Amino acid sequence: MCGIVAVIGSRDAAPLLLKGLKQLEYRGYDSAGLATVTTRDIPSTGSLICKRANGKLANLVEKVHSEGAPGQLGIGHTRWATHGKPEERNAHPHRDSSGSLAVVQNGIIENHSALRKALQLEGVKFASDTDTEVIPHLISRELNLLKSQGRIVNATLLLEAVRKVVSQLQGAYALAVVWQETPEALVVARKQAPLLIGLGEGEFLCASDTPALAGFTRTILPMEDGEVALLTPLGIELYDSQGHRQQRSPSFLHGLEDVVSKRNFRHFMLKEIYEQPETARLWVDRHLPLGLPEAVPVALPFENSFYEGIERIQILACGTSRHAAMVGAYLLEQFAGIPTTVFYASEFRYAPPPLAPNTLTIGVTQSGETADTLAALAMEKERREVYKHPDFLSRELGITNRAESSIARQVSNILDIGAGLEVGVAATKTFLAQLLSFYSLTLSFASRRKSRSLEEITSLINELRLLPKQLLVLVKQHDALAVTLAQRFSDTQNVIFLGRGINYPIALEGALKLKEISYIHAEGYPAGEMKHGPIALLERRVPVISIATPGVVFEKVLSNAQEAKARDAQLIGVAPEGLATEIFDALMPIPEVSEWISPLFSVIPMQLLSYHIAANRGLDIDQPRNLAKSVTVE
Ligand code: G6P
Repeated sequence: MCGIVAVIGSRDAAPLLLKGLKQLEYRGYDSAGLATVTTRDIPSTGSLICKRANGKLANLVEKVHSEGAPGQLGIGHTRWATHGKPEERNAHPHRDSSGSLAVVQNGIIENHSALRKALQLEGVKFASDTDTEVIPHLISRELNLLKSQGRIVNATLLLEAVRKVVSQLQGAYALAVVWQETPEALVVARKQAPLLIGLGEGEFLCASDTPALAGFTRTILPMEDGEVALLTPLGIELYDSQGHRQQRSPSFLHGLEDVVSKRNFRHFMLKEIYEQPETARLWVDRHLPLGLPEAVPVALPFENSFYEGIERIQILACGTSRHAAMVGAYLLEQFAGIPTTVFYASEFRYAPPPLAPNTLTIGVTQSGETADTLAALAMEKERREVYKHPDFLSRELGITNRAESSIARQVSNILDIGAGLEVGVAATKTFLAQLLSFYSLTLSFASRRKSRSLEEITSLINELRLLPKQLLVLVKQHDALAVTLAQRFSDTQNVIFLGRGINYPIALEGALKLKEISYIHAEGYPAGEMKHGPIALLERRVPVISIATPGVVFEKVLSNAQEAKARDAQLIGVAPEGLATEIFDALMPIPEVSEWISPLFSVIPMQLLSYHIAANRGLDIDQPRNLAKSVTVE
């Protein structure tokens, strides 16, 4: 949520900033801006140039190209609006009253109102409605104070002023500051919002996320919570929140090359839908290699102790990740026999259930940065630590696609879903990969606890091994089919998705995908619940998409579908061909597989139908309005 980039070195900053921002645009695209500082021309100081534009990054690019932004030091921002409408005056960077100091920020300054009022009483005039603008004014005030005490203007002075100011800020933030009086200094800070430093040759690039570093460097230094850093062409000075100098070795980043290219696909979302068979193949190779012992038929990076004594599982997640968690909970309960509950992370934070012993808490987040999920996990850990009872100790697992993200630094056990970078804001391949992670976990628990027979476990594994090939066929088939179906539904205003049991979360996910990218109102419902309300919505113009896969609830789902048809709704089935499917007005066929693995198939037509409806409507599929891929604010 909001992307920040900052650079200091010997090359022109603006092109590097714009390139980095392009890779971070998935974090927000309401407006964009940058500020550069020209190098000091002894004896005069440098000067600060600020360019901002409302809307997509392309508008800023055009402005910078036509007006120029020289300087080898700079900061940039792509915004997802929280405080203040998406307008140019609310775009970052924000400056102090003299226009000599500029700040970009990602996060929310929770005490901004009080700080703003205090500054206004001192005569400061604000130029925006943002929470961020208090920061440049506060730093400027601090600098003036230090200067009035006779302090020499240098990089250390700026560092000191920023450190004083961040200690007054409440909330979560990552920020970068430049000042025209110190063209050799970039100061950055973070608290509960991600920020990492990329180490180039004689230059540094800081960013909210690794894609911004593609083509710049692979050597990174992720900043820890509460740290402030001073970057100069000579090196990094890193301090913790107490002001103690920190020394840490940088780490090395893998796999940044595939970030940028859409290849020959029209949208990243379609490319990523097509990448799912490969996602599945990589997962099978990693987790289900042939030749593992019967007792432990799945390869997972955990010690035996990880599995021991777990009596229940609670899963915390948001959005699409929560839907994957719901499928996971079904598997963990019904296949592996472990009582499992899924919570909205944002609800769990403020109304957690009473503490239960021997509980594994799983956080699921593709980005690894979702503020609510991270905060819910932290809160759970803390309340268990306070309780200090051996049965209630915190046992945690993070399931993420970003092994270098904040969750990986916060949680002791991490399962990397390994889907590769996903650029489309609407999650597709990361959803499939999250589902697959739950299959690995479920199989691992089931075999260790012997909650299923060897035959049942082997049969599930064998079916999963066939998945990559089957998905290859399915994706192509539904890409073609969905084009035709989408034409029928492009003007539709309401759609109902029905599913039951293990496919109920897929109905939710189908509805969410449609809402996210086509802006059509959609509801996902457990099929048996339709008659208790949503049935009132049904009429000729309301399509009902019903997931009917053979298994314990197959007949029930078909009956529920009939109830919709009797109310004139257009009935679209996601079901295997030939199994009572004549009741559907249109069929999106999926292979006849065991009910356990059916979600891995039923989700594909959902993704492609949403995609083609949105494409027909000419919408911005990869960057749908108001959304962001990584939600780092509460
Ligand atoms: C945002 C994204 C969703 C995502 C949700 C949770 O709302 O637009 O696609 O499902 O955040 O993100 P996470 O990174 O925690 O999976």
